[in-house]
Amino acid sequence: MKTEKNLEKFFLICPMGFESYLEEELKTLSPWLLGTDMKPHSESIQFLDKKKGGVEIETSLGIGFQLNHFVKSTVRILWRWKSKKISHVSELKTWIRGLRPQDLTKKPIRLQISSRKSRLQNEKMIERVFQEDWKNLSSDENAQTLYVDVYDDQFTLSWDLSGEVLYKRGLSEKKGSAPLRENLAHLLLHELTLGLTGPELQSATLVDPMMGSGTFLSESLTWNQVIIDRKFSYQELVSVPGFLKSEWWKNLKRPSNGLFGFHEGYDQSPEMVQVAKDNLKSRDHLKLQQNDLLNSKLNYTSSRPVYLISNPPFGERLEVKSLQDLVSASLQIFQPVKALFLVPRSAMLSGTGYGLTSSREFLHGGLEVKSLVFSRSHQD
Ligand SMILES: C[S@@+](CC[C@H](N)C(=O)[O-])C[C@H]1O[C@@H](n2cnc3c(N)ncnc32)[C@H](O)[C@@H]1O
Repeated sequence: MKTEKNLEKFFLICPMGFESYLEEELKTLSPWLLGTDMKPHSESIQFLDKKKGGVEIETSLGIGFQLNHFVKSTVRILWRWKSKKISHVSELKTWIRGLRPQDLTKKPIRLQISSRKSRLQNEKMIERVFQEDWKNLSSDENAQTLYVDVYDDQFTLSWDLSGEVLYKRGLSEKKGSAPLRENLAHLLLHELTLGLTGPELQSATLVDPMMGSGTFLSESLTWNQVIIDRKFSYQELVSVPGFLKSEWWKNLKRPSNGLFGFHEGYDQSPEMVQVAKDNLKSRDHLKLQQNDLLNSKLNYTSSRPVYLISNPPFGERLEVKSLQDLVSASLQIFQPVKALFLVPRSAMLSGTGYGLTSSREFLHGGLEVKSLVFSRSHQD
């Protein structure tokens, strides 16, 4: 959907309730995104709308494509291609006949149709209308996906620019039994560090006392890293600007530091410590060690401020008392300035010497969860 200035619209999908964090992340990225002149522009993104579960923006096509490599908190990026108010099948047929998807992709096209509160409500019928004209439709997973969203008689066609979900970074391959999505880890790190300055973060340690495969640590360590070790579906579109086909990122001088200056991860299970070691490789200022929180031999002291983040094991198997014990032990052993725990929504938790400063409820993989942020209430 072109606008006057030759800009296009994009929709970035994120977990519901985190839309403003995604918007903030996008603002920090603007100075790194290259325009068609291969130069960054400080105000390259216009924010149009914050909806439940995503943010709509306007920018150039090249920047919309590039965002796949930069935005860490989104799940998928859609390019709003065409939109029209339609209430009769005959109108729909004429409109579809006039569209030229072959100018954009040579691949088979997979339609994802959803229709609500509209006169053309029957998704099968809408699909049949497309089939009459578009001969290269397919249900193959590798086809180019086009989202057909019909709401209140408004048809919106959006190309999927990401392909595989964006929380797959092409980095940590080994996962534990209850892995955390990377984009959620990114958003929760953002929540933990709200209000902290760059220098404060660089002189502090991030601790995950139940790190599993190490997703929180990995997201912090790769905070400024551009994602180049995987494929994106935009790369197969016909209209990809030439500079995005070359290895443009080799000239990109982004900061190489993580979100925090120092990182430590612990887990009760020696197998998980090995998985985290394999995933995170050896890096400066990174320590990974076996430790059972409930039977700890660790005599922990730190000359730096500690920030703690973790998702303890949860599910029906774990009693709330055990969850409270894990939270209490984490706070007692590491004495963090602030700590964020991702726990089931029903859990009522507290920490001696700590106050609950925020609580946010959301759905994670279909489970009702919440993030609890505790801050140390006494002065050192
Ligand atoms: C839900 S998983 C964490 C997943 C992790 N965020 C990831 O990205 O893979 C919980 C982890 O807590 C660890 N754990 C359970 N009880 C523990 C204890 N008493 N002390 C330390 N770690 C424990 C488990 O071994 C498991 O790896």
